[in-house]
Amino acid sequence: MIKPHGSDTLNPLYVEDDAKRAELEKEAAGLPSIVISSAAAGNAVMLGSGYFNPLKGFMNLADSLSASEKMQTTDGTFFPVPVVNVVKDASAIKGAKRIALLDPNVDGNPVIAIQDVESIEEISADQMKTMTEQVFRTTDPDHPGVAAFNGVGTTLIAGPIQVLNFSYFKADFPETFRTAGEIRDMITKNGWNKVVAFQTRNPMHRAHEELVHMAMEQEKCDGAVIHMLLGKLKKGDIPADVRDSAIRKMGELYFEKGTIEITGYGFDMLYAGPREAVLHALFRQNMGATHLIVGRDHAGVGDYYGGFDAQTIFDDIPEGAMDIKIFRGDHTVWCKQCEQVVMMRDCPHGKDDYLLLSGTKVRAMLAAGEALPPEFARPEVAEILMAFYKEQAN
Ligand code: ADX
Repeated sequence: MIKPHGSDTLNPLYVEDDAKRAELEKEAAGLPSIVISSAAAGNAVMLGSGYFNPLKGFMNLADSLSASEKMQTTDGTFFPVPVVNVVKDASAIKGAKRIALLDPNVDGNPVIAIQDVESIEEISADQMKTMTEQVFRTTDPDHPGVAAFNGVGTTLIAGPIQVLNFSYFKADFPETFRTAGEIRDMITKNGWNKVVAFQTRNPMHRAHEELVHMAMEQEKCDGAVIHMLLGKLKKGDIPADVRDSAIRKMGELYFEKGTIEITGYGFDMLYAGPREAVLHALFRQNMGATHLIVGRDHAGVGDYYGGFDAQTIFDDIPEGAMDIKIFRGDHTVWCKQCEQVVMMRDCPHGKDDYLLLSGTKVRAMLAAGEALPPEFARPEVAEILMAFYKEQAN
C-alpha cells in the first residue's frame, strides 16, 4: 500500500489506549484550559485521525510562515498550509507548559486535546497579510476562508498534542466519519491496490459521478473512496447529513457493488482552491489512496481562482514531495448530442451542445424550488435534495 506522507507508518495523534486516554482526561480536568477556534478544533481532529501525518501538533510562527511561503516546514517537511492554534487572548494559559484545549463545536466545550506549549507568539499584521496572500491568493475579507483565517486572533500557541476525541464527528456521522487508519484498513480488507479518492463538499451531481467513473476507468482503479467534508461550510452550501444521504443513494444505485466506499472527514472548508487541493492530496495519501481527482475549480469559491489553478499548482511541487497521483479532470458537462455526461476534452462537440453542470447551479435551482432535471442529478438523488429544500422553505 502507498506509504503515508513523511513517514513509513501512520502516526495518528489520537490516544487509542482506553486506560491512557482516561488518565489524560483526568489530567486535563486539572490543567489550565482555553476554548479554541473551530478551525483549530478541525486541525486537532485531522491530526488525531492521522490525515495530517507526520505533524505532531500545532506549528509555531517560523513553520507557519515557511509552510505558507514554501509549502514546507523549517525542517523540510512538505506541508502546503499552516496548521495552527490561533487565539485572540492567551492570558488564561499564561506560563502553563501543558494545557487543555476546549472544543467550541460541542455543547459544554469538552476537552478535545492536551497540548504541550512550546511557544506562544504574536503574529504581526504584516505576517498575517503575507500568509493570507500566500495561502488564499487574496486578502479580500469577503472570501470566506480569508475571513475565517483572519477572524480567530493573532496569538499562536505551538506544540505537540494528544487528541482525546473526534469532536462531534463520530457521534453525528457514525456511518461516514472515518480516520485515515480506518480507511487504510478498509482498502486492505477490500483487497484494492489502486484507489482513487474523490473530495467533495456537495451532494454528488452527474458531473461528480461521471468524474469518478472516468477516473476509475482511465487509471484502472480497483475502487473509489468518496471522502466528503463533514465540517463547517459557507452559508448556502448543503448540510453534511443531507449530502451524506444523497451520496449514499447514488453509490448504492449507480456504482458496481464492492467498488465504492462512502466516507468523510472532520474539517472546516478552507476555500483555498489550489493550496487546499495540495492539502487534499496529502491527506488522501495518508488514508491510502493512490490517486485524487482534481477537477474544475477544486475547493474554490466565487471567482477567486482560475478554473484549473488547482491542477497547475501540482506542476510546481518538488519532485517526490508526495507519492499520490492527480487525476486531472477537465470541465465535465452534459452533451446534448452525445446525450451523456462528457469531459470537454474527450468530446468532439462544441459549447452550444453543452449544458454546464456545477454545484453552484444545482444549489441555485434547488433554492428557487425548481425540479432538478436528469442531466443534473440522478432522479433518486434529486428527490432527496428537493425534499430538503422544500422543508427549508416551509
Ligand atoms: S470542492 O470544493 O469539494 O472541490 P465540489 O464538491 O463541487 O467542490 O467538487 C468536487 C470535485 O469535483 C472537485 O475536484 C471539482 O473540481 C470537481 N468538479 C465539480 N464539478 C465539476 C465539473 N462540472 N467539471 C469538472 N470537475 C468538476
